[in-house]
Amino acid sequence: MRALVTGASGKTGRAVTAALAGRGVPVRAVIRPESDHEGVCREAGAADVARVDLGSGAGLHAAFEGVDLVYHLAPNVDDREVEMAVRIARAAETAGVRRFGFHSVLHPAEATMPHHVRKHLAEKEVRDLFPGAVVIRPAAYQDNLVPAALAGKIAVPYSLDAPFTNVALADVAEVAAVVLTEEGHDSATYELVGPQTLTVREMAEIATEVLRRVVTVRQTPIEDWVSGPGAGLPARAREQLVAMFRSYAREGLTGRSHDLARVLGREPTTWAQTLTRLL
Ligand SMILES: NC(=O)c1ccc[n+]([C@@H]2O[C@H](COP(=O)([O-])OP(=O)(O)OC[C@H]3O[C@@H](n4cnc5c(N)ncnc54)[C@H](OP(=O)(O)O)[C@@H]3O)[C@@H](O)[C@H]2O)c1
Repeated sequence: MRALVTGASGKTGRAVTAALAGRGVPVRAVIRPESDHEGVCREAGAADVARVDLGSGAGLHAAFEGVDLVYHLAPNVDDREVEMAVRIARAAETAGVRRFGFHSVLHPAEATMPHHVRKHLAEKEVRDLFPGAVVIRPAAYQDNLVPAALAGKIAVPYSLDAPFTNVALADVAEVAAVVLTEEGHDSATYELVGPQTLTVREMAEIATEVLRRVVTVRQTPIEDWVSGPGAGLPARAREQLVAMFRSYAREGLTGRSHDLARVLGREPTTWAQTLTRLL
């Protein structure tokens, strides 16, 4: 069985590639024609690389040659996400692939976040075109805060007291590999949340304990994010991430589900365990 993974050079794609390769599945990593990220895909365990523009479909047909399994990850906050999903699901159906996994997000219908709503629309299209598709809806990853925790300074542009059920990316990637390689998951939708509800303040406290050095925590004004880390992003992506931060500020992002433990047959990874594994 050969798997095709889109968005393969990103943080999610590399983790999914590693999880599939760890199960002995040869992975064809999809990156853009102009990408210089072939090396990171190979380091993650990809057997080969296909250059496809998901925005236009260029290169898609050849990429599907000899492929049995597909895991589709859209690039982060891309307005063309729905059309990309349609293109991939249609190609998968035409190529007669055996299984299709679609990487969505927790609470895809959350109307205040445009990039969530696009995943809601994309899920519907994928289901229409490939009815057996498995939809994975992960919470925000614990890993997003790891570099800041390791640097000893967590700063976020939303409330430090908003609740999150962040999930370990390695757990999400393992689920992706399980649903593509094992029977019994056709047409399922899995909500993948971490085992604890924690605020960013609590995550910093736990990081201080686990890393045995002070990890400070600070809320920064959204305007500082816009003129700082967000400044290099395309305007539309920046607007949508600001909408996400405002939503996080109002209510965090939490879910209640036992899907992760059920699919993996073990307890999900805690924030402390994610940090411990890095030490
Ligand atoms: N971060 C989270 O907490 C979280 C939680 C739930 C869901 N998600 C979802 O997970 C998905 C992946 O996020 P991520 O942060 O891992 O992504 P990312 O690091 O931004 O990676 C994006 C990937 O897409 C590829 N790409 C970009 N434009 C492309 C195009 N036109 N054609 C083909 N490939 C293209 C890039 O490849 P090259 O640049 O090498 O070409 C790269 O491999 C997103 O849809 C996000 O919404 C994320």
